[in-house]
Formats: sequence, C-alpha cells, structure tokens
Amino acid sequence: MLHQSPLPAPYPTLTEAECVERIRAARAQLGARAVILTHHYQRPEVVALGDVRGDSLKLAQFAAAQEDAEFVVYCGVHFMAESADVLKRGQQKVVLPDLGAGCDMADMADADDVEEAWNELVEALGHDSIMPVTYINSTAALKAFVGAKGGVCCTSTNAARIIDWALTERKTLFFFPDQHLGRNTCKSAGIPLSQMTLWEPGKPLGGNEAAKLRNARVFLWKGHCPVHAMFTLRQIENLRAKDPAFKVISHPECAMEVVDASDAVGSTEFIVSEIAKSPAGSKWAVGTEMNLVNRIATENPGKTVVSINPFMCLCGTMNRIDLPHLAWALDSLVAGTPVNVITVEEPERSAARATLDRMLAMSVPVMAPTLVVP
Ligand code: 13P
Ligand code: SF4
Repeated sequence: MLHQSPLPAPYPTLTEAECVERIRAARAQLGARAVILTHHYQRPEVVALGDVRGDSLKLAQFAAAQEDAEFVVYCGVHFMAESADVLKRGQQKVVLPDLGAGCDMADMADADDVEEAWNELVEALGHDSIMPVTYINSTAALKAFVGAKGGVCCTSTNAARIIDWALTERKTLFFFPDQHLGRNTCKSAGIPLSQMTLWEPGKPLGGNEAAKLRNARVFLWKGHCPVHAMFTLRQIENLRAKDPAFKVISHPECAMEVVDASDAVGSTEFIVSEIAKSPAGSKWAVGTEMNLVNRIATENPGKTVVSINPFMCLCGTMNRIDLPHLAWALDSLVAGTPVNVITVEEPERSAARATLDRMLAMSVPVMAPTLVVP
C-alpha cells in the first residue's frame, strides 16, 4: 500500500459544508476537463459528488471510453486507478485522491511471488498447459505478468465467461489473488472441489505434494478479501431462523459456504440491480460492503435491506477517500498542480494493457454508466 502524506492546511480542518462548497466550485471551474468516477463502496457524500458510479468492470469500461476529459478522478482503490491509467485512450491523468486507498486482497499477490510460483508449476506441469487469470483486484505488475504469459484478467461480473475460456484454451488454470472468487466460479462451472488446489505463497510447491499437482485442474492463490471474510453461514442461518422471508444475496468474494447458502450471487452492480428489480415489500440480507448496503437500503424505501453481518463491514481502504481528500485533489487540478497522479510505466503498461484488453473483448460491451443525480 502506498503512503499518503497528511493533507496540507486548510483541508484537515474544513467542515463538511466547506469541503462540498470547494468541490462544487472546483467542478464548475474544471467543467468537462474532469470526470469523477466513484465505486459503489465509496462513502455516500463522495458518491453524491461524482459523475458516475459503478462496479469495477463498468468503471473500467467507462475509463476506457474517455477521450475528452483531461483528468479522471478515481474515487476507488489503487488497482482501479492503475487500470484506468492503463486503459486510457488519450493523455488523461488519473488521480487517486488518497494514495492510502489500496486493496488488501490485491496486496496478497506480489508479482515476484507469483512469478516464483509460476516457475515451480511450469517445471512440474509443462509450459503450455497452464493459463494464468488474475482478478482485476491485483497490481498492474501482476496484470503485466499474466499478460506476458498469454493470460487474462476478470472481474466478478465476467469471471464465469473468462474462466470458461481459460480452461478451453489450456488444461489447467492458475487463478490470482482471490481463492473464493476462483473457487465459487469454478464450482458453479461444474469443476469438482477435488480438482481444485490451494496454492500457499511462500511454501514449496504451494504447500502441495507433487502428485496432487498433476491431478489438479485449477490452482487457487491463497488470497482473500478481509471485508467479505466477515460473512458466515451461521449469520445466514440466524437471519433465516428469525425471518424466513429474507432472501440472501452475496458477492462472490465471500467464502463458498456463504455463496452456496445465498439465493443470488454477483458483483456489486448485480446486487444493486437485483434488489432494485425486486417487488415492493421484499426483504434482503446482503453480503457485501456496508456503504453499499446502506445506500441500497436508502434507494429502496419500500423494501427491507440489511447486512448478513449485523456489525459494520466497511472497506477501510475505500473509505480513505473522503471529502477533504477529494477537495484537495480537485483544487490541485484547478491550480494546475495535479497531485496523486497514478501512472503505470512501460514495459509493464503494454503487458497489463494486453491483459485488460483481452478481458474487455470478452465482456458485454460498454454499459451506460449510472449517472449520480445530485
Ligand atoms: P465489483 O467488481 O463487484 O465492484 O467488486 C470490486 C471489489 O473490490 C469487491 O470487493
Ligand atoms: Fe479490496 Fe476487499 Fe476492499 Fe474490495 S472490499 S477493495 S477486495 S479490500
């Protein structure tokens, strides 16, 4: 995770109203020169000031379609801003308002560790038989590594399609960094658990016997999301015991037993749209980040929307983007001295681009972004 220096004066002492006033004034001055993208997990006050909101696929597609805006201000986490920089068509600068907004899961797969693991596996199984696939929640360095090996990237929206492609192209799949998305997606594709092997970074052969490697069809890097690890089967059972009318909807980063017990599973965008489509009076228990659960509850007044986990499950790094940081980032653009510009340099850039381009080519075309209505 990168280090963010403390904000200069006056930002740390501004009130919420003063921040909003500054952000609105900067937006007015910048006009079409800047676009503000917000991920679904952002704080409500940040989402309210953005131009578009979406899941990581939708925002990546939107970023890739930008040609005119000079600045893309990304209210999300570091890997998302890196992807936007890699995908940009013109000379835009991608700005992340707080450099500390990383992703704990992405940090669990260091590209050097992956390369070491890859070399061990290739030695055991042969070069042409393994397809690397990385979740978009990964560093540009890992995307570049995967791209250089002919692999591809995926999001939770298109993981099924991409894993299906990977296993048609090559005999085995090496999936990074989220074991849960990998396991859940492969399981629903009909691959038995006995053919999936967990790869523990740092251990020889990922902690596996050599014979086990040859029987595996899928290798899952031992990474996970600490936020989605906070949902359990027991919580779902308790909820249903209290009120069987609750339908459970979860993100595929949740553990397999949570996903298996859910009525519906999908990306943040999917969760938003499934609940929006449901009839008035529906009751939903949601397994994803709390800012999003609260927003869905607010936007669906005739329905009951709660978290599977009765305690807060916020993504601390997403939440680092707040109004003072957004005001500082925008004021810096107005002043002509952009801060926190995220740049992926060559040769990493071209290899990471190949990985992302392959994914976008296999995804449903650009969806209309959700415009944030002030
Ligand atoms: P989505 O692609 O569903 O937005 O998920 C991103 C993420 O980081 C979930 O934890
Ligand atoms: Fe990363 Fe988990 Fe936060 Fe998503 S919720 S950005 S996977 S730490």
